[in-house]
Amino acid sequence: MSGAGPFTALETMLEDRRQQVEAALRRLTGRGRAPAVEAALAESLFAPAKRLRPIVSLMVAEVFRADPRRVLPAGCAIEMVHTSSLILDDLPAMDDARVRRGRPACHVAHGEATAILAAFALLNRAYEILAEGWPDGPDAAVRGELARDLARAVGLDGMIAGQGEDLRLTDRTIDFQTLEFIHSRKTGALFTCAAALGAAGARASAAETAAVTAYAKNLGLAFQIVDDLIDATGEAAAVGKDVGQDLKKTTFVSFSGVEGARQLAAELVATSEEALRGFGPRAQPLRDLARYVVARKR
Ligand code: IPE
Ligand code: IPE
Ligand code: MG
Ligand code: MG
Ligand code: MG
Repeated sequence: MSGAGPFTALETMLEDRRQQVEAALRRLTGRGRAPAVEAALAESLFAPAKRLRPIVSLMVAEVFRADPRRVLPAGCAIEMVHTSSLILDDLPAMDDARVRRGRPACHVAHGEATAILAAFALLNRAYEILAEGWPDGPDAAVRGELARDLARAVGLDGMIAGQGEDLRLTDRTIDFQTLEFIHSRKTGALFTCAAALGAAGARASAAETAAVTAYAKNLGLAFQIVDDLIDATGEAAAVGKDVGQDLKKTTFVSFSGVEGARQLAAELVATSEEALRGFGPRAQPLRDLARYVVARKR
C-alpha cells in the first residue's frame, strides 16, 4: 500500500524505520569463510521485506522516548531469527514453497543443505549480537534477559511449538482453541518478543511492558489471520510468495470464512489498541500500525 490514503504519515515513518533496519542489518552481517552459505544468507536476509518485527521494537522504544540505537541491534537479531524461520518454513519437508520475498526460495536457489546452514547461521548470529552488546545499548544483565526472551519466543513453547503443531495437524480438522494455540506461537510469539525487547531497551516499567506486549500479542495474531487471508485470496506475483498453501490446513479463513476472518482480525486490532489506552497520543503510531497490518495486501 502506498500513495495518499489513510496511512500516508505512517508509511513515511515505516519507510524511515525500515531503512534504519536495512542499514543496521548490513552492519551486523559479518563475513565468514563459507561463501556459498553467506551468499544464500545475504540473499534471504536482504530480499525485499517489511521488517515489521524490528519496526515494532523501534516504535515501542519511541513510545518511551528512548534512543532507537538502544534497541536497533536487538530488533535486527529478531529479524535474523524471523528470516531463518522463513528459510526453514519453505523447505520441502515443511511447506515446500518455491518463492519467498519475491525471489526463489533459499533452497530453490541454493539447495537444501546450504539453505539449512544459512538458517542456522542467521540464528546463531542473532544470539551472538545479543551477547556481544553494542554502543549505547543495554547492559549485560538486560541483554541476557533479551536473549532468554528471544530463545523462549522461538523455543519449544514458542514458534517451534506452533510450527510443529501446524505441520502435525495438516490434513486434520482442528478446533478454534488449537488454531489459536498454533497462530499465537508460530507468529504471535516473535511479535510479543519484539515489543518486550523495545520496552526493555527503553527501561519501561513492568506495567508498561505488560501493556505493549498485550498490544503485540493481539497484533501478532491479527497479522497471521491476515497472512491466511492473503494465502486464500491473494495473487502470488503481488504477494511475493506462494499462495494457496494452506488449502489442506484449518486456518481462520477455512474456520470462519473470509468475512469472519476479517472481522476477527478487526476485533484483535481493537483489543490491541485497548491495551495501549494508558499511553495517550504518544502510542498513536502503534495504533496506526495495527490498523495498517490488517489492511495490508502482502
Ligand atoms: C511471513 O512474515 C511469515 C509469517 C509469520 C506469516 P512477513 O509477512 O512479516 O514476511 P516478510 O518478513 O515481510 O518477508
Ligand atoms: C509460518 O506461517 C510462520 C513462520 C514461523 C515462518 P506460514 O507458513 O503461513 O508463513 P508463510 O505464509 O509461508 O510466510
Ligand atoms: Mg508454514
Ligand atoms: Mg509457509
Ligand atoms: Mg502463510
